[in-house]
Amino acid sequence: MSIVYLNGEYLPLDQAKISVLDRGFLFADGVYEVIPAYGGHLLRMQEHMRRLESNLQAIRLQNPLSESQWQQIIQKLLTENPNQGGGEDKYVYLQVTRGVAAKRNHAFPEEIKQTVFLMVNELAPVDKEKLRPGVAAITLDDIRWKACHVKSIALLGNILLRQQAHDSGAAEAILINEGQVTEGAASNVFAVINDVLVTAPTGPRLLPGITRDLVIELAAEHNIACEERDFSEQELLSASEIWFTSSTKEILPVVKLNGKPVANGQSGPIWEKMIDIYQACKIKLRSGESR
Ligand code: PDD
Repeated sequence: MSIVYLNGEYLPLDQAKISVLDRGFLFADGVYEVIPAYGGHLLRMQEHMRRLESNLQAIRLQNPLSESQWQQIIQKLLTENPNQGGGEDKYVYLQVTRGVAAKRNHAFPEEIKQTVFLMVNELAPVDKEKLRPGVAAITLDDIRWKACHVKSIALLGNILLRQQAHDSGAAEAILINEGQVTEGAASNVFAVINDVLVTAPTGPRLLPGITRDLVIELAAEHNIACEERDFSEQELLSASEIWFTSSTKEILPVVKLNGKPVANGQSGPIWEKMIDIYQACKIKLRSGESR
């Protein structure tokens, strides 16, 4: 049984309970983070903490813990939850809600005691060979709200879109907002258009992914032309490569879009280059070099 953290306590998962009046349960009034840990080392912890802070500000909720308190809890959970499957990679899920209110009322309660929940899950080792076959994707109208930069626990839009993709035999949806590509249902999207790697600029229409930012940084370091700009569904359909990025997927090639092969239907040469760079980055992190 895994050990989780809930409001100051470390508990076996089945003993962690919250009130039905928690605003996270009633309103999805909260935010979350997913942080990968490779060999016990957290990927881009500071960036995740910065994003958490700005998300909490966006929903007008105080950060209940200092960065060193978050660090301490996470380190304890990583130690308390050894992987059963022999792998050494995990991801940390953390969630902060506006806590329990005496009555169900949309407006904030006067006194707020945030609910803080963290758990650690195994991350199946992701390597190049596993990723190379790629996945199928479909384009769908982005039906979500106008603050997609907030990593809100209110994920109903994302869930319905992902399920629609699954129902059509695809692994993920690529979302289109007024003709422009925004992101995936739970990932960011990159495309290679005229030999240039392109991804949508940050703003309210998409989550500023930590993996996205790292890929952009690595591209610059390795002379891979990369642009953050709006790009249309039309451009996406003519792309020679398409990738999803996320903390748990890493960099996943899309080989089929809307039932048609992307270029020759195989992962492309720029992905081959980038995944090597990304894996090298993970190896460094495992040996303790921060990134
Ligand atoms: N999701 N966009 C959306 C809508 C996401 O849900 C995610 C990640 C990303 C990629 O962000 P990052 O690189 O920081 O993981 C983009 C996480 C993994 C999840 O909900 O499980």
